[in-house]
Amino acid sequence: MRRYPGKMLTAGLALAAAALVSNGVFAAADSGKKDFMENCASCHGTDGKGHGEALYVIPGVNPPDLTTLSKNNGGVFPAQRVFQSIDGRSGIPSHGRFDMPFWGTTFQREGAEFTPASEAEVKARITAIVNYIKTIQQK
Ligand code: HEC
Repeated sequence: MRRYPGKMLTAGLALAAAALVSNGVFAAADSGKKDFMENCASCHGTDGKGHGEALYVIPGVNPPDLTTLSKNNGGVFPAQRVFQSIDGRSGIPSHGRFDMPFWGTTFQREGAEFTPASEAEVKARITAIVNYIKTIQQK
């Protein structure tokens, strides 16, 4: 019985981490980048160019290069469109959208989904990610 202190420690750490996340402790500045690396890089790549590891495990998924959004939009970063793409809940574009999770739903506070407080957190979180993506645009 007293043989598994390591396991208990691990469980305790996981709980602490979960508590941090559900409390919505996201310092605005770096949280966008951190969130991107944790949730998006697997498909879009750590550099955002669309060559994440998931490409090799999910056949047929083709994440776009996120560093050319401004370039392809006449040099203007399409912040609103990017926000909506990430959120995923406003309307269903013509094709392919289901290859990416609907982050506006995924990021909801567990047990308090879609409450105003949870929605505010989701909005702040996605906004931070949008701001991060803006910083990786090619000139
Ligand atoms: C499972 C793979 C996957 C993950 C994880 C993923 N994406 Fe995507 N993403 C895609 C694919 C594929 C598309 C192309 C549209 C589609 O088919 O759904 C896309 C499209 C986009 C677009 C639209 C680009 C444009 O041209 O407007 C943005 C922005 C985006 N992703 C950002 C993100 C962000 C931010 C995250 C993390 C919170 C993320 N993605 C996580 C696969 C993924």
